[in-house]
Amino acid sequence: MSHEIYAEAETAGIPTEAIVASLGCGNPTALAQLKPGETVLDLGSGGGIDVFLSAKRVAPGGKVYGLDMTNEMLALARENQKKAGVDNVEFLKGEIENIPLPDGAVDVVISNCVINLSVDKSRVLKEAFRVLKAGGRFAVSDVVLCGDIPAELRNNPELWAGCVAGAMQESKYRSELAAAGFVDIGIEPTRIFRAADVREFLSAAGAEAVAVADQADGKIMSAFVRATKPATDSADRTKGKAVSKIQILGTGCKRCRDLTANAEKAVQELGIEAEIEKVTEIQDIIKFQILMTPGLVINGQVKAAGRIPSIEEIKQMLVIAGGN
Ligand SMILES: C[S@@+](CC[C@H](N)C(=O)[O-])C[C@H]1O[C@@H](n2cnc3c(N)ncnc32)[C@H](O)[C@@H]1O
Repeated sequence: MSHEIYAEAETAGIPTEAIVASLGCGNPTALAQLKPGETVLDLGSGGGIDVFLSAKRVAPGGKVYGLDMTNEMLALARENQKKAGVDNVEFLKGEIENIPLPDGAVDVVISNCVINLSVDKSRVLKEAFRVLKAGGRFAVSDVVLCGDIPAELRNNPELWAGCVAGAMQESKYRSELAAAGFVDIGIEPTRIFRAADVREFLSAAGAEAVAVADQADGKIMSAFVRATKPATDSADRTKGKAVSKIQILGTGCKRCRDLTANAEKAVQELGIEAEIEKVTEIQDIIKFQILMTPGLVINGQVKAAGRIPSIEEIKQMLVIAGGN
Protein backbone atom coordinates (compact mmCIF):
# COMPACT_ATOMS: atom_id res chain seq x y z
CA MET A 1 0.00 0.00 0.00
CA SER A 2 2.91 2.28 0.64
CA HIS A 3 4.27 2.24 -2.93
CA GLU A 4 4.54 5.44 -4.99
CA ILE A 5 2.79 7.70 -2.49
CA TYR A 6 5.22 10.60 -2.38
CA ALA A 7 6.36 12.67 -5.34
CA GLU A 8 10.14 12.76 -5.78
CA ALA A 9 10.34 16.57 -5.55
CA GLU A 10 8.41 16.51 -2.28
CA THR A 11 10.90 14.26 -0.51
CA ALA A 12 14.00 16.31 -1.43
CA GLY A 13 16.07 16.83 1.74
CA ILE A 14 14.29 14.02 3.66
CA PRO A 15 16.71 11.24 4.78
CA THR A 16 16.48 8.09 2.62
CA GLU A 17 16.00 6.02 5.79
CA ALA A 18 12.76 7.91 6.56
CA ILE A 19 11.50 7.38 3.00
CA VAL A 20 12.39 3.67 3.02
CA ALA A 21 10.71 3.19 6.42
CA SER A 22 7.47 4.71 5.12
CA LEU A 23 4.54 2.39 5.78
CA GLY A 24 1.67 4.72 5.01
CA CYS A 25 -1.28 4.32 2.68
CA GLY A 26 -1.61 7.93 1.53
CA ASN A 27 -0.09 11.38 1.73
CA PRO A 28 -2.05 13.25 4.44
CA THR A 29 0.41 16.13 4.48
CA ALA A 30 -0.29 16.95 0.83
CA LEU A 31 -4.04 16.95 1.43
CA ALA A 32 -4.14 18.71 4.82
CA GLN A 33 -3.47 22.22 3.45
CA LEU A 34 -0.94 23.01 6.20
CA LYS A 35 0.07 26.63 6.65
CA PRO A 36 3.21 28.31 8.07
CA GLY A 37 2.95 28.78 11.83
CA GLU A 38 0.61 25.82 12.47
CA THR A 39 1.18 23.09 15.05
CA VAL A 40 0.68 19.55 13.77
CA LEU A 41 0.51 16.15 15.47
CA ASP A 42 1.20 12.92 13.55
CA LEU A 43 -0.41 9.88 15.22
CA GLY A 44 1.84 6.81 14.81
CA SER A 45 4.73 8.67 13.19
CA GLY A 46 6.95 5.61 12.45
CA GLY A 47 10.21 6.63 10.75
CA GLY A 48 8.92 10.22 10.60
CA ILE A 49 8.30 10.83 6.88
CA ASP A 50 5.03 12.74 7.32
CA VAL A 51 6.48 14.67 10.27
CA PHE A 52 9.39 15.91 8.12
CA LEU A 53 7.12 16.76 5.18
CA SER A 54 4.77 18.68 7.50
CA ALA A 55 7.71 20.47 9.13
CA LYS A 56 8.61 21.99 5.75
CA ARG A 57 5.02 23.16 5.21
CA VAL A 58 4.52 24.79 8.64
CA ALA A 59 7.86 26.62 8.60
CA PRO A 60 8.53 29.33 9.56
CA GLY A 61 7.04 29.46 13.02
CA GLY A 62 5.22 26.10 13.08
CA LYS A 63 5.99 22.89 14.93
CA VAL A 64 5.29 19.20 14.33
CA TYR A 65 4.94 16.46 16.97
CA GLY A 66 5.36 12.81 16.00
CA LEU A 67 3.80 10.31 18.42
CA ASP A 68 4.70 6.62 18.42
CA MET A 69 4.61 3.84 21.01
CA THR A 70 7.61 1.80 19.90
CA ASN A 71 11.18 2.60 20.98
CA GLU A 72 12.54 1.27 17.68
CA MET A 73 10.47 3.66 15.56
CA LEU A 74 11.21 6.61 17.87
CA ALA A 75 14.96 5.88 17.71
CA LEU A 76 14.81 5.70 13.89
CA ALA A 77 12.76 8.91 13.67
CA ARG A 78 15.12 10.83 16.00
CA GLU A 79 18.14 9.58 14.03
CA ASN A 80 16.42 10.77 10.83
CA GLN A 81 15.76 14.14 12.45
CA LYS A 82 19.48 14.56 13.18
CA LYS A 83 20.35 13.66 9.58
CA ALA A 84 17.75 16.07 8.20
CA GLY A 85 18.87 18.85 10.58
CA VAL A 86 15.27 19.92 11.31
CA ASP A 87 14.58 21.70 14.58
CA ASN A 88 10.80 22.37 14.43
CA VAL A 89 10.05 18.70 15.16
CA GLU A 90 9.64 16.72 18.40
CA PHE A 91 9.05 12.98 18.72
CA LEU A 92 6.99 11.86 21.72
CA LYS A 93 6.60 8.39 23.16
CA GLY A 94 3.05 7.32 23.87
CA GLU A 95 -0.15 5.73 22.65
CA ILE A 96 -2.60 7.31 20.27
CA GLU A 97 -5.39 6.20 22.65
CA ASN A 98 -3.81 8.38 25.37
CA ILE A 99 -2.12 11.34 23.69
CA PRO A 100 0.53 12.95 25.93
CA LEU A 101 -0.45 16.53 25.03
CA PRO A 102 -2.79 19.00 26.77
CA ASP A 103 -6.26 19.94 25.47
CA GLY A 104 -6.33 22.30 22.47
CA ALA A 105 -2.60 21.94 21.76
CA VAL A 106 -2.57 21.54 17.97
CA ASP A 107 -4.11 22.99 14.81
CA VAL A 108 -4.02 19.79 12.78
CA VAL A 109 -3.96 16.06 13.55
CA ILE A 110 -2.54 13.94 10.74
CA SER A 111 -1.92 10.19 10.63
CA ASN A 112 -0.95 7.69 7.96
CA CYS A 113 -2.26 4.15 8.12
CA VAL A 114 -2.27 3.82 11.91
CA ILE A 115 -5.79 4.37 13.29
CA ASN A 116 -6.96 1.11 11.66
CA LEU A 117 -4.41 -0.69 13.87
CA SER A 118 -5.92 0.54 17.14
CA VAL A 119 -8.17 -1.76 19.13
CA ASP A 120 -9.98 1.29 20.55
CA LYS A 121 -10.61 3.57 17.56
CA SER A 122 -13.39 5.50 19.25
CA ARG A 123 -10.96 6.53 21.98
CA VAL A 124 -8.34 7.57 19.43
CA LEU A 125 -10.84 9.85 17.70
CA LYS A 126 -11.94 11.36 21.04
CA GLU A 127 -8.30 11.98 21.94
CA ALA A 128 -7.65 13.61 18.55
CA PHE A 129 -10.67 15.87 19.17
CA ARG A 130 -9.42 16.77 22.67
CA VAL A 131 -5.92 17.85 21.59
CA LEU A 132 -7.21 19.93 18.65
CA LYS A 133 -7.85 23.64 19.06
CA ALA A 134 -11.40 24.84 18.31
CA GLY A 135 -11.67 24.96 14.53
CA GLY A 136 -8.76 22.49 14.21
CA ARG A 137 -8.56 19.90 11.42
CA PHE A 138 -8.36 16.11 11.40
CA ALA A 139 -6.61 15.09 8.14
CA VAL A 140 -5.79 11.41 8.02
CA SER A 141 -4.92 8.74 5.46
CA ASP A 142 -6.25 5.35 6.50
CA VAL A 143 -7.51 2.02 5.21
CA VAL A 144 -11.31 2.01 5.18
CA LEU A 145 -13.79 -0.70 4.19
CA CYS A 146 -16.64 -0.02 1.78
CA GLY A 147 -18.40 -3.39 2.03
CA ASP A 148 -18.26 -6.60 4.04
CA ILE A 149 -15.07 -8.60 3.73
CA PRO A 150 -14.97 -12.36 4.46
CA ALA A 151 -14.35 -13.46 8.08
CA GLU A 152 -11.14 -15.26 6.95
CA LEU A 153 -9.71 -11.84 6.06
CA ARG A 154 -11.08 -9.97 9.10
CA ASN A 155 -9.60 -12.51 11.51
CA ASN A 156 -6.23 -12.85 9.82
CA PRO A 157 -3.48 -11.57 12.19
CA GLU A 158 -1.11 -10.90 9.27
CA LEU A 159 -3.72 -8.65 7.73
CA TRP A 160 -4.10 -6.76 11.03
CA ALA A 161 -0.40 -5.92 10.79
CA GLY A 162 -0.95 -5.08 7.11
CA CYS A 163 -3.63 -2.52 8.08
CA VAL A 164 -6.54 -4.32 6.39
CA ALA A 165 -8.25 -6.54 8.96
CA GLY A 166 -8.76 -3.84 11.60
CA ALA A 167 -10.08 -1.26 9.15
CA MET A 168 -13.47 0.32 9.91
CA GLN A 169 -16.42 0.46 7.57
CA GLU A 170 -16.85 3.93 6.04
CA SER A 171 -20.22 4.45 7.77
CA LYS A 172 -18.74 3.46 11.15
CA TYR A 173 -15.78 5.85 10.66
CA ARG A 174 -18.24 8.68 10.01
CA SER A 175 -20.41 7.86 13.02
CA GLU A 176 -17.37 7.50 15.34
CA LEU A 177 -16.04 10.89 14.17
CA ALA A 178 -19.45 12.49 14.73
CA ALA A 179 -19.71 10.84 18.17
CA ALA A 180 -16.32 12.35 19.09
CA GLY A 181 -17.77 15.79 18.22
CA PHE A 182 -16.35 16.38 14.73
CA VAL A 183 -18.27 18.15 11.96
CA ASP A 184 -17.69 18.57 8.20
CA ILE A 185 -16.77 14.90 7.94
CA GLY A 186 -15.53 13.64 4.58
CA ILE A 187 -14.08 10.31 3.45
CA GLU A 188 -12.58 10.34 -0.05
CA PRO A 189 -11.12 7.22 -1.64
CA THR A 190 -7.55 7.66 -2.85
CA ARG A 191 -7.22 4.06 -4.07
CA ILE A 192 -9.71 1.21 -4.26
CA PHE A 193 -8.16 -2.25 -4.04
CA ARG A 194 -9.21 -4.94 -6.52
CA ALA A 195 -9.09 -8.73 -6.01
CA ALA A 196 -5.60 -8.90 -7.57
CA ASP A 197 -4.28 -6.36 -5.02
CA VAL A 198 -5.87 -8.31 -2.16
CA ARG A 199 -4.25 -11.53 -3.45
CA GLU A 200 -0.92 -9.70 -3.40
CA PHE A 201 -1.38 -8.52 0.25
CA LEU A 202 -2.30 -12.07 1.24
CA SER A 203 0.65 -13.74 -0.41
CA ALA A 204 3.02 -11.03 0.92
CA ALA A 205 1.61 -11.72 4.40
CA GLY A 206 2.21 -15.47 3.88
CA ALA A 207 -1.54 -16.04 4.18
CA GLU A 208 -3.35 -18.96 2.60
CA ALA A 209 -6.81 -17.53 2.19
CA VAL A 210 -6.05 -16.40 -1.37
CA ALA A 211 -9.33 -17.92 -2.62
CA VAL A 212 -11.36 -15.37 -0.65
CA ALA A 213 -9.64 -12.42 -2.36
CA ASP A 214 -12.40 -12.23 -5.00
CA GLN A 215 -14.98 -11.62 -2.28
CA ALA A 216 -13.02 -8.56 -1.12
CA ASP A 217 -12.85 -7.06 -4.62
CA GLY A 218 -13.46 -3.29 -4.43
CA LYS A 219 -14.31 -3.38 -0.71
CA ILE A 220 -11.01 -2.12 0.71
CA MET A 221 -9.77 1.39 0.03
CA SER A 222 -7.08 3.81 1.03
CA ALA A 223 -8.94 6.98 1.89
CA PHE A 224 -8.37 10.55 2.99
CA VAL A 225 -10.49 11.16 6.07
CA ARG A 226 -11.16 14.76 6.99
CA ALA A 227 -13.17 16.40 9.77
CA THR A 228 -13.20 19.62 11.77
CA LYS A 229 -13.51 20.41 15.48
CA PRO A 230 -16.24 23.07 15.62
CA ALA A 231 -15.24 26.60 16.54
CA THR A 232 -16.48 27.22 20.09
CA ASP A 233 -18.07 30.53 19.28
CA SER A 234 -21.27 29.68 17.45
CA ALA A 235 -21.27 33.18 15.91
CA ASP A 236 -17.97 32.25 14.25
CA ARG A 237 -19.48 29.05 12.92
CA THR A 238 -22.42 30.75 11.29
CA LYS A 239 -20.60 33.89 10.08
CA GLY A 240 -20.66 33.97 6.29
CA LYS A 241 -21.72 30.34 6.18
CA ALA A 242 -25.36 30.56 5.15
CA VAL A 243 -25.83 27.89 2.50
CA SER A 244 -25.81 29.69 -0.79
CA LYS A 245 -23.96 27.47 -3.23
CA ILE A 246 -23.81 23.77 -3.97
CA GLN A 247 -21.52 22.54 -6.75
CA ILE A 248 -21.71 19.11 -8.35
CA LEU A 249 -18.36 18.08 -9.85
CA GLY A 250 -18.51 15.62 -12.73
CA THR A 251 -18.51 15.35 -16.47
CA GLY A 252 -22.18 14.44 -16.81
CA CYS A 253 -22.13 10.74 -15.88
CA LYS A 254 -25.18 8.96 -14.44
CA ARG A 255 -23.66 9.08 -10.93
CA CYS A 256 -23.35 12.89 -11.29
CA ARG A 257 -27.02 13.10 -12.24
CA ASP A 258 -27.97 10.92 -9.24
CA LEU A 259 -25.95 13.15 -6.93
CA THR A 260 -27.59 16.28 -8.40
CA ALA A 261 -31.02 14.73 -7.84
CA ASN A 262 -30.16 13.95 -4.19
CA ALA A 263 -28.85 17.49 -3.63
CA GLU A 264 -31.98 19.02 -5.17
CA LYS A 265 -34.20 16.84 -3.00
CA ALA A 266 -32.19 17.69 0.15
CA VAL A 267 -32.53 21.44 -0.55
CA GLN A 268 -36.23 21.04 -1.23
CA GLU A 269 -36.88 18.96 1.92
CA LEU A 270 -35.01 21.46 4.09
CA GLY A 271 -36.89 24.34 2.48
CA ILE A 272 -33.73 26.42 2.08
CA GLU A 273 -32.53 28.50 -0.83
CA ALA A 274 -29.36 27.37 -2.55
CA GLU A 275 -27.95 27.65 -6.03
CA ILE A 276 -26.94 24.28 -7.49
CA GLU A 277 -24.18 24.57 -10.09
CA LYS A 278 -22.88 21.69 -12.24
CA VAL A 279 -19.11 21.90 -12.74
CA THR A 280 -18.38 19.78 -15.81
CA GLU A 281 -15.08 21.06 -17.25
CA ILE A 282 -12.06 18.98 -16.17
CA GLN A 283 -9.89 22.09 -15.62
CA ASP A 284 -12.53 23.46 -13.20
CA ILE A 285 -13.00 20.12 -11.41
CA ILE A 286 -9.27 19.64 -10.70
CA LYS A 287 -9.15 22.96 -8.84
CA PHE A 288 -11.04 21.19 -6.03
CA GLN A 289 -8.26 18.57 -5.71
CA ILE A 290 -10.63 15.61 -5.64
CA LEU A 291 -9.37 12.26 -6.83
CA MET A 292 -12.66 10.78 -8.00
CA THR A 293 -15.96 12.13 -9.32
CA PRO A 294 -18.75 12.79 -8.67
CA GLY A 295 -17.90 15.44 -6.12
CA LEU A 296 -20.13 17.52 -3.86
CA VAL A 297 -19.01 21.00 -2.76
CA ILE A 298 -20.94 23.19 -0.35
CA ASN A 299 -19.91 26.83 -0.05
CA GLY A 300 -16.48 26.04 -1.51
CA GLN A 301 -15.77 23.06 0.76
CA VAL A 302 -15.49 19.52 -0.65
CA LYS A 303 -17.99 17.37 1.28
CA ALA A 304 -17.82 14.13 -0.72
CA ALA A 305 -15.91 12.68 -3.66
CA GLY A 306 -16.20 9.40 -5.51
CA ARG A 307 -19.56 8.54 -3.96
CA ILE A 308 -23.19 9.64 -3.84
CA PRO A 309 -24.23 10.75 -0.35
CA SER A 310 -27.85 10.00 0.52
CA ILE A 311 -30.49 12.75 0.72
CA GLU A 312 -30.39 12.50 4.53
CA GLU A 313 -26.60 12.86 4.59
CA ILE A 314 -26.68 15.89 2.28
CA LYS A 315 -29.36 17.45 4.50
CA GLN A 316 -27.06 17.00 7.49
CA MET A 317 -24.15 18.59 5.58
CA LEU A 318 -26.35 21.54 4.61
CA VAL A 319 -27.55 22.04 8.17
CA ILE A 320 -23.96 22.08 9.47
CA ALA A 321 -22.80 24.41 6.66
CA GLY A 322 -25.67 26.74 7.50
CA GLY A 323 -24.71 26.69 11.18
CA ASN A 324 -28.19 25.56 12.23
C1 LIG B 1 1.85 1.21 9.52
S1 LIG B 1 3.04 2.08 10.47
C2 LIG B 1 2.86 3.71 9.79
C3 LIG B 1 4.00 4.60 10.15
C4 LIG B 1 3.98 6.00 9.55
N1 LIG B 1 2.74 6.70 9.82
C5 LIG B 1 4.21 5.96 8.04
O1 LIG B 1 3.35 6.42 7.27
O2 LIG B 1 5.25 5.46 7.63
C6 LIG B 1 2.25 2.18 12.06
C7 LIG B 1 3.04 2.97 13.12
O3 LIG B 1 2.12 3.25 14.16
C8 LIG B 1 2.68 2.90 15.42
N2 LIG B 1 1.54 2.53 16.26
C9 LIG B 1 0.66 1.51 16.05
N3 LIG B 1 -0.29 1.49 17.00
C10 LIG B 1 -0.01 2.53 17.83
C11 LIG B 1 -0.62 3.04 19.02
N4 LIG B 1 -1.71 2.47 19.52
N5 LIG B 1 -0.06 4.12 19.62
C12 LIG B 1 1.06 4.71 19.11
N6 LIG B 1 1.68 4.26 18.00
C13 LIG B 1 1.16 3.19 17.36
C14 LIG B 1 3.64 1.79 15.11
O4 LIG B 1 4.67 1.71 16.09
C15 LIG B 1 4.18 2.21 13.74
O5 LIG B 1 5.28 3.04 13.85
